Order: sequence, then C-alpha cells, then structure tokens
Amino acid sequence: MPDFTPRVFSGIQPSGGLTLGNYLGAITKFVDWQAKGTHETIFCMVDLHAITVPQEPATLRRNTRELCAGFLAAGIDPERSILIAQSQVPEHAQLAWIFNCVARMGWMGRMTQWKDKSGKNAEAASLGLFAYPALMAADILVYHATHVPVGEDQKQHIELTRDIAAKFNHDYGVDFFPMTEPVIEGAATRVMSLRDGTKKMSKSDPVDASRINLTDDADTIARKLRKAKTDPDPLPGDPTGLSERPDARNLVNIYAALSDSDPATVLAEHEGRMFGHFKQDLADLAVARLAPISTEMARLMDEPAEIDRILARGAERAREITVPILERTYEIVGMVR
Ligand code: TRP
Repeated sequence: MPDFTPRVFSGIQPSGGLTLGNYLGAITKFVDWQAKGTHETIFCMVDLHAITVPQEPATLRRNTRELCAGFLAAGIDPERSILIAQSQVPEHAQLAWIFNCVARMGWMGRMTQWKDKSGKNAEAASLGLFAYPALMAADILVYHATHVPVGEDQKQHIELTRDIAAKFNHDYGVDFFPMTEPVIEGAATRVMSLRDGTKKMSKSDPVDASRINLTDDADTIARKLRKAKTDPDPLPGDPTGLSERPDARNLVNIYAALSDSDPATVLAEHEGRMFGHFKQDLADLAVARLAPISTEMARLMDEPAEIDRILARGAERAREITVPILERTYEIVGMVR
C-alpha cells in the first residue's frame, strides 16, 4: 500500500435541525480532531444523501445553512478544516457512479439502514436510497480519507466502503484507494430522549421537549432540562447504580459530556443528591456551554451570504484534492482523457 496522507472525513445529513445528540456525539469529536492537528480534517453537509428521501426544497436549503452555522458556532474553523456542502463538490457524485458499477446489488441489499428505511415497501423506495452507501463510500474515498469518525449505526457503511475500495483495487490491479478506518464513538456519548431514556434523542421526535436543539435559547434549554424525566431516587455513587435507570443515566452522561468529564467522576461528586438539584446544575452547565452556540448560529443565519461564501471557499479547497483523484480514477477505469 502506498502511504496515504492522514485525513479525517465525516458527514452529517442536513435533514432536520441539529440536536444536543449531534453536538455531543459528532460535532465536538470533529472539533477535537481539528484541535489535535494530526490529520487534515474535512467535514461535509451531505445534501445529496438527504434527498434519497423526500425533502421540501426551501427547508433543505435552510437546514444545510443551519448545519453549516452549527459547525462554525461549535468551533469548526473553515481555514483549519475544509467545510463543504456535498453538492458543491461534483466529484462526490461522479465517483459515486463509478462505485455504483463496482458495488454489487447483494451487498447493498444487506445494509441494515436500507432495510430499516425502505421498510415493507422497498418497491416504492428511491433508487438513490438503495445506492446511498456507494455515495457515502465516494464521499470518503474521493479524498483518500484514512479515518472516519461516525456513530455505531454507520459502522456497516464503513465496512462496505472498504469492500468497495478493495474490489476496485483488485479488479483494476492497483493500490489506489486506502482501507479507511472507522472511528466509532462509544455509547457514553449517545444522547437519549429527555422524555424516554431508552430512545435516542431525535430531531424527528414530534415532542420538542424530548430534545435540546442547538438553536434553543438559554431559557428553553434550562426549562427542558429541569423538566427532563428522572426517577425519585438520589444519585448513586458509581455508574453500576444507573444500569436499570435509563433516564437518570442519560442526564449523568449529558452532564459528563458537557463538563468534559466522565460518568464515574460526576457520580463521585454528586452521590446522594436528589435529581431536582442535579438538574438545576445540569441546566446551568448546559446554558453556559450551549447558549453561546445558539447565539452565534442565530447571527450567522441572519448572514446567509457569509455562510455561502465560506462554503464556496470550502468547495474550492476540497476540489484541489478531489479533482486529481477523480481524474486518476477515470484513467484507471479506461475513460479517454
Ligand atoms: N450516512 C451518514 C449518517 O447518516 C452521513 C454520511 C454521509 C457520512 N456520507 C458520509 C458519514 C461519509 C461519514 C462519512 O450519519
């Protein structure tokens, strides 16, 4: 294998508002990668993936800008990282076509996300939804990315990305695409619903009080956390005491993540306290950490031209990497250049 530049790529779908779950589970990890400085970092709003299911055009455009505002407000620096909208870097879709001709129908049919999203009526699903993982492989491999931070639910797609890279390399007798490593985030950063600690916090939950939106103002954040579901028992002294208490565990996990600590340390400090008091502390912590983000997001959303300029510049920088990789790919597969 040739040496590949250490490079991190990850993407988030602009298919709804951003929640505390996206922030703690994904965006803060991206900011950490950027801060470490060991890898080039590329972060993407995957608008082409979003339209594999129906999207209202004006809403999609707004969500894409809002996601960009969220990245920026949370600390992604568009000079240190490359920040892009997927559709503005056409090589993603172009490489995806090549990968549609490498990946096998059987591989795609085994993807659990496809099975979940297409449900009982696969005949009515879009062809794009079926091909979704090949586009995702292209997102990653059009940069020769070596590491992809993702949630557990995306692990299968990264394995498929490796399968596509391996088959391409094998079929064409080249060592061109790297074997990308997934970097899976642990369960501790999985943020659950404030109304049901067994369900993931979701932007599509009809009950707004079940989640913290990154756009929520200070009062809303505090109110939702003070009203979050818990149980009548005090906090235990260590994490094993939370194993049967999903709502309590969720709040302790959120506290730990927001204070850059871990559940064991939080519990050692708060053992024996009642949740009424703990939730007040959690609300104060969350407001201190998140309200500046929602304020900055609101400012940016009032300046869409600034967002669009940043994305145009990101696309320009991205294409310095993607154009040569796509060109070489076309050569390998036998296109006249
Ligand atoms: N499928 C990912 C998700 O739903 C989003 C995504 C698209 C992605 N392309 C990617 C993540 C490339 C990592 C790398 O979360």
